[in-house]
Amino acid sequence: MTDRLLQHLHDLGDDDLPAYVYDLHDLHDHAAAIRAALPERVQLFYAAKANSDPKLLDVLRDHVDGFEVASGGELRHVQATCPGTPIAFGGPGKTPAELQEAVHVGVERLHVESEQELHLLAGLLGEHSVDILLRVNLPISLGPVALAMGGEPSPFGLDPANLDRCLALIASDSRIRLRGIHVHLASGLDAAAQLDLAGQVLTWASDWAEEKGVELAEVNLGGGMGVDYARPDQRFDWPAFGSGLRRLLERYPDVTLRIEPGRSVTVYCGWYVTQVLDIKHSHGHAFAVLRGGTHHLRTPATKQHNQPFEIIPTDTWDRPWQRPQVQNQLVTLVGQLCTPKDVLARAVHVRRLRAGDRIAFALAGAYAWNISHHEFLMHPAPNFHHLDPIPVPAGSHP
Ligand SMILES: Cc1ncc(COP(=O)(O)O)c(C=O)c1O
Repeated sequence: MTDRLLQHLHDLGDDDLPAYVYDLHDLHDHAAAIRAALPERVQLFYAAKANSDPKLLDVLRDHVDGFEVASGGELRHVQATCPGTPIAFGGPGKTPAELQEAVHVGVERLHVESEQELHLLAGLLGEHSVDILLRVNLPISLGPVALAMGGEPSPFGLDPANLDRCLALIASDSRIRLRGIHVHLASGLDAAAQLDLAGQVLTWASDWAEEKGVELAEVNLGGGMGVDYARPDQRFDWPAFGSGLRRLLERYPDVTLRIEPGRSVTVYCGWYVTQVLDIKHSHGHAFAVLRGGTHHLRTPATKQHNQPFEIIPTDTWDRPWQRPQVQNQLVTLVGQLCTPKDVLARAVHVRRLRAGDRIAFALAGAYAWNISHHEFLMHPAPNFHHLDPIPVPAGSHP
């Protein structure tokens, strides 16, 4: 945590807590480093589903080639927040109304997930045309991954066995322009695994395109660049990934590669900051009950991990009774919800933790607030703070 961020967390009043604090300067530097590590022939799209906070999108728009959205809601939100930025529209189960909207506003790319989606598209195009990728669930072995979305039976993308029928449909409709292939097979891959995946996908796609006589202009590898919640200081090795891609792409001079990471882009800039309300012991185990909980930060419950955190000691204690505390002990950090699943970190060692101390959970900038069940128990929502937005020179955005 930077001194500037720590100072900001100290300055928050108790009434400000819980709070999400986004360090926009950190996001700016991180996104710039990702962009700098990638070869020119790799286009960077940000998957807005990871965190679509408008101020984050506003920082990212200067570093990415576009945004990937996965619903009509995200499409409208990104358009309103960053007008003019290219949008790729993906995701399973698009409704006819969403497809209509995507065509009407002229999304830059549409990722087609099924044969029926192609039929629907053809039926509503009218005078419009559309550039598409076919999302394919390739039979690629991924090994152990955090979240598999392909390479095995899955509702995402097209089974390769359906591709011929899709090609026939596309060939019969000149308004649908096939640009290439999309895959998003897994989350949580490190740079070596992502490179291996990229090599397998490019080999498959170019062989397939040659066999079918299809022009392969673009391959989208999806996202899934790994984030290690147990080692928050260790980031995905973008320089290694970038130079590996550079070497790989020499074999495919006519293909533009696109990636659409989400988690690995915004996760580090977000902190969920709260306060210890109480500390108690139960059957020999210590629990710290925090203001807030998994209805604000669901990530540790969904991923079944301990959310990394830092303790910010607060020395003031003006109650007439002894301050509840634990020292050199294992403690489980829980929230205010009436469910045993409301655990943010289980049996973690602390040197000292007292009622009134603050806790800042790290790696809370992606799939955190926006995937949480906010309404459960009707506790107040957290506050949102954005630290040090980068000033954008007037007129630099369309
Ligand atoms: C199609 C697609 N692209 C990109 C992403 C972003 O993945 P991540 O946030 O793991 O980088 C997802 C996440 O589910 C996805 O489904």
